[in-house]
Amino acid sequence: MNDLKTALKESAKAVEGELERLLELEKAPEKRLIEAMRHAVLGGGKRIRPFLVMQSAKLFGVAEQSRLRAGAALELVHCYSLVHDDLPAMDDDDLRRGRPTVHKAFDEATAILAGDALLTLAFEVIVHPATHSNPMVRAELTQMLAKAAGAHGMVGGQMIDLAAAEAATGGKPLDIGGITRLQRLKTGALIDFGCAAGAALGRAPEHARGALKGYTHDLGLAFQIADDLLDVAGDEAKAGKKLFKDADAGKATFVSVLGEDRARDQANRLADQAVEHLSIFGKEADLLRQLARFVVERES
Ligand code: IPE
Ligand code: IPE
Ligand code: MG
Ligand code: MG
Ligand code: MG
Repeated sequence: MNDLKTALKESAKAVEGELERLLELEKAPEKRLIEAMRHAVLGGGKRIRPFLVMQSAKLFGVAEQSRLRAGAALELVHCYSLVHDDLPAMDDDDLRRGRPTVHKAFDEATAILAGDALLTLAFEVIVHPATHSNPMVRAELTQMLAKAAGAHGMVGGQMIDLAAAEAATGGKPLDIGGITRLQRLKTGALIDFGCAAGAALGRAPEHARGALKGYTHDLGLAFQIADDLLDVAGDEAKAGKKLFKDADAGKATFVSVLGEDRARDQANRLADQAVEHLSIFGKEADLLRQLARFVVERES
């Protein structure tokens, strides 16, 4: 686990540097927007999604710059999703990564615009020739990112999440199948993109892509179950966000249906299963293996 913690820290530092370069402050009238974007992106977060991109791309010998840019693009989409997730119209949260949410530090309109601009910046970054020399690879990455972020990906999952909370207050909570689908979209889609992007950058063979897809499928679910467990049993200071909110909002989660213990078992089982998918790789995939454990044991 120490190897992973050091690697995560180093990778997060490199991603932070890249994001800092991408979000340079200008003395233009829209400076406030860039400030809000920087608030959303810089100085926090576990950077797990870019870590997935960087580590999976490394399996196929992808150059540092490509790995970093694709990782940064994914983190930009993730940060945008958090800015909008925290808005009063959605989860109405005041704290994120131990700091005020963007609409609290700035205002709601600025937070909406900052989210929009982070999403579009992500596409500017991924499609830029500096991300990969081959335009076919860039087109593939761009399409994959659009799908992961969109109506049948993260945003679709967010919609189901809101609808499910309403349905639950009307006495019709989602069952496990429904919750699994919700989580697959809301959280799983961007996590899947992490390794799919690494494989696409490295023009990986089909069987390797399939193995990584199996890995992130289980990792993504385990990751969201861990997030839901944090909400009922975590430490707010460590998590850096307000907890004990899902039940109040009537959110359908694995924890609300299975209870805490069974949800924890399920997360552990999924983490083990995720690791099994990596059996075609050797030691070079050890950090990805360790990440599966980290994801379910994390406190933030
Ligand atoms: C939080 O994601 C939102 C979910 C999808 C559960 P992370 O737990 O990766 O948040 P950061 O990026 O580390 O702050
Ligand atoms: C957020 O899920 C998922 C996305 C932003 C896509 P949550 O609403 O559970 O995330 P937290 O708990 O606020 O970080
Ligand atoms: Mg939410
Ligand atoms: Mg939320
Ligand atoms: Mg949550």
